Amino acid sequence: MIKVLNIYAFFTVLLIATSCTGNQEVEGWMQSCNNCTCVWLNGRKAANCSNLQLNEVPSHLSREMEDIDLSGNPLRRLGVLSFLVNGLIKLEVLRCQNCSLISIHEIALDGLVLLKKLDLSKNRIVRVYRDSFRHTRRLESLNLSFNRIHSLESSTFSGLYYLQEILLNDNQISFLKAITFEKLPSLQHINLANNEFEEIFTDYTENLPEFNSTLDLQGNPWICDCRMEEVRKTFLRKKLLTVPAICAEPSSLKGNLGQK
Ligand SMILES: *[C@@H]1O[C@H](CO)[C@@H](O)[C@H](O)[C@H]1NC(C)=O
Ligand SMILES: *[C@@H]1O[C@H](CO)[C@@H](O)[C@H](O)[C@H]1NC(C)=O
Ligand SMILES: *[C@@H]1O[C@H](CO)[C@@H](O)[C@H](O)[C@H]1NC(C)=O
Ligand SMILES: *[C@@H]1O[C@H](CO)[C@@H](O)[C@H](O)[C@H]1NC(C)=O
Ligand SMILES: *[C@@H]1O[C@H](CO)[C@@H](O)[C@H](O)[C@H]1NC(C)=O
Repeated sequence: MIKVLNIYAFFTVLLIATSCTGNQEVEGWMQSCNNCTCVWLNGRKAANCSNLQLNEVPSHLSREMEDIDLSGNPLRRLGVLSFLVNGLIKLEVLRCQNCSLISIHEIALDGLVLLKKLDLSKNRIVRVYRDSFRHTRRLESLNLSFNRIHSLESSTFSGLYYLQEILLNDNQISFLKAITFEKLPSLQHINLANNEFEEIFTDYTENLPEFNSTLDLQGNPWICDCRMEEVRKTFLRKKLLTVPAICAEPSSLKGNLGQK
């Protein structure tokens, strides 16, 4: 009996020893990181390639990478299949804040079928193409804040069934069609603060039957007239607004909450 136990003990020690040696070696996916820092982040294989003066998406990273931070690199544009051509098809998180991005090619994100979180904030993006998100059907969070977006084509986000939040604050949007937000059954939060809206005649949430949370419209130069009053009442009734919009015009209501 004792002999048997000893044998088990021997194999256990052997097993632990083997796994310890394994841990000391650099894991395969970490081997080709070059100047990026590879770490486990929130259970994902992550590469932090921020602020490396990169002009393009790195091609040397492991195909197993699940999270990439490219922030602060002067990439200027994301071209055709930017990630797919570099084998980066397992990405679940992609950050590219302050990447001097002017344009995102229509099919730049194609292939990223597992992407959940996309942060393209603090760039100079003017236009977002309608088909940009046709492959990224698993997106949960989309951050396009602090860009120069003027308008969005209808159906740009349509069919992103898992999308929970969309941040479009601090852009130059003055008009959105009613169907900009449709077929988004998981959406909880829309941020349209600090844009150029003067008037809203449409309830952007009317095509979102499940939308029960917040629509942020602060910091827009509202002209509070009778036409806008109806929509404003609807928003207030649905308790959508976090803070009521402040009027820029008419001057009699300037700085008011637009409540008569
Ligand atoms: C890593 O950074 C150093 C210094 O900034 C640079 O000279 C080198 O080319 C970089 N290596 C790669 C593979 O990008
Ligand atoms: C990447 O590194 C930068 C600089 O150290 C840090 O500020 C940033 O938060 C890191 N990104 C992630 C996703 O941890
Ligand atoms: C943005 O990125 C540039 C490099 O492209 C860097 O010099 C600058 O410090 C970054 N700004 C911020 C606010 O991180
Ligand atoms: C979106 O981007 C802004 C600016 O970079 C940042 O402050 C904010 O935390 C981001 N929010 C989310 C949910 O990613
Ligand atoms: C909105 O609904 C979702 C599920 O439908 C729920 O998880 C969430 O807590 C709700 N939010 C609010 C603010 O009621």
